Amino acid sequence: MAKAAGDAIGAAWDRIRGVKLHALADLFAADDARVAKLSGRIDWGEDLTAGGILFDWTKTHLDDELLGGFEELASAVDFSAARAKLLSGAKINATEGRAAEHTAPRGTGAEASVEEAQALLARMKMLVDAIHDGALGEVKHLIHIGIGGSALGPDLAVDALTRDLAKVDVHVVSNIDGVALEQAFALCDPQTTMLAVASKTFTTIETMTNAASALKWLGDNGVDDPSGRVVALTASPEKAVEWGVDETRVLPFMESVGGRYSLWSSIGFPVALGAGWDEFEAMLAGAQMVDQHFASTEGRANLPLRAAFADQYYTRVRGCQTRAVFAYDERLALFPSYLQQLEMESNGKRVTAAGEPVDGPTAPVTWGGVGTDAQHAVFQLLHQGTHLIPVDFIASIAPGDMLDPAHHRILLTNCFAQGAALMAGGNMASDGKDPARAFPGNRPSATMLCDDLDAATLGALIAFHEHRTFANAVLMGINPFDQFGVELGKKMANDIERGDAEFDASTRALLGAAGLA
Ligand code: F6P
Repeated sequence: MAKAAGDAIGAAWDRIRGVKLHALADLFAADDARVAKLSGRIDWGEDLTAGGILFDWTKTHLDDELLGGFEELASAVDFSAARAKLLSGAKINATEGRAAEHTAPRGTGAEASVEEAQALLARMKMLVDAIHDGALGEVKHLIHIGIGGSALGPDLAVDALTRDLAKVDVHVVSNIDGVALEQAFALCDPQTTMLAVASKTFTTIETMTNAASALKWLGDNGVDDPSGRVVALTASPEKAVEWGVDETRVLPFMESVGGRYSLWSSIGFPVALGAGWDEFEAMLAGAQMVDQHFASTEGRANLPLRAAFADQYYTRVRGCQTRAVFAYDERLALFPSYLQQLEMESNGKRVTAAGEPVDGPTAPVTWGGVGTDAQHAVFQLLHQGTHLIPVDFIASIAPGDMLDPAHHRILLTNCFAQGAALMAGGNMASDGKDPARAFPGNRPSATMLCDDLDAATLGALIAFHEHRTFANAVLMGINPFDQFGVELGKKMANDIERGDAEFDASTRALLGAAGLA
């Protein structure tokens, strides 16, 4: 890094670290405009579903002084140039020598890439329409086989969008543990089941082993032409053909779309098949609304960047090692798992993009659950434990259920009460003096309040987190698009499979105990 840039980054951090720590309550007392300043909306118009999301960061410690310091940091790291590189299809993923064009399928990016990505989606639509029209016989079930980015996004979106009604009943299977696949078999009729084999590389051992077993299950259960029931979703179409998938059912996506960012490509096939093409398209359109905001908004007004300012503050200044996300919406039960890969695989790094050791902690551990369940399990620690854990809440104003409105009212009031209690603190004892009943308060949270949790909103929520993750990476100077950290364990497992591994005494004993040595 050039010395001048390094100095500017250091100066910005000095400024940030020099900001006096205020209690959240004092920040509200000191600034009448705080709510207006630290909450903002991204909206979309009538041609989509009129709606939007309110991003409320008012209960974080961000204030004008900190925001000013972080804007100085953003300019020292040249955030605008990094964003322009991302969105223009430049090879921003330097260690793997490629671009990161996950926004292209949703219409944002270099013209040629957007055209290519959308042509690939048009091809996918033809196959989805053909299946819905019965061209491949009766299809009631889809077993979608993939892992990591080839499973978490589809699983989240299918679960969120098909609870009321599914055009095709989708089961996402990722784990190599055969229990997972057997569970899907038990819920599907082989005569009306299709398989989607989702793998960017089409080499991942879990996916290829599960796919072979699922194919065998079809054959063993009287399906005449099992491979005729397979669709491949991949950036390595030649490998899928080699594996035996007919070219007409191979749906490729671009190599420059990263695995954990691939929901928008043909990896989203189960969403389109299960929820319908219109829903899949609405999800992409919602994501594009966030792309437009992210691409064209500067400084603290840029909501994913503002969220990254708070993330950096808690991780690097306040030493928070984890961050928690609670969806007060059953349909987002899988959102924390999805975010874990997005954030931890992207930003769990120890060297900068230039290969130098990082100068502070990188991604915190992301964890979470659904409200109100989590309140009765883990919130004790959030309120009274010794860790400071920034919390995100996600909720929808419109209910997802048709029951007595009391359900949704209680859900939302609990969500808002938790954020208020974390901030306010207090003592529950009648004399206000019992230490066991004391809440320190001043604990930060952010709230994302959706008008309604429809497909566009889901797309917008996911895109917001993709851009927030990228913004965090740029502020830390790291490459969020590679994931070499998962390679060593994979190699060692393969070495054991091949029987040519040299291991430590502990691992040799475990292998022996399991009869694998
Ligand atoms: O675990 C590493 C990883 O490469 C993830 O990044 C990726 O999403 C997953 O494996 C699956 O890879 P593929 O889609 O190539 O099967």
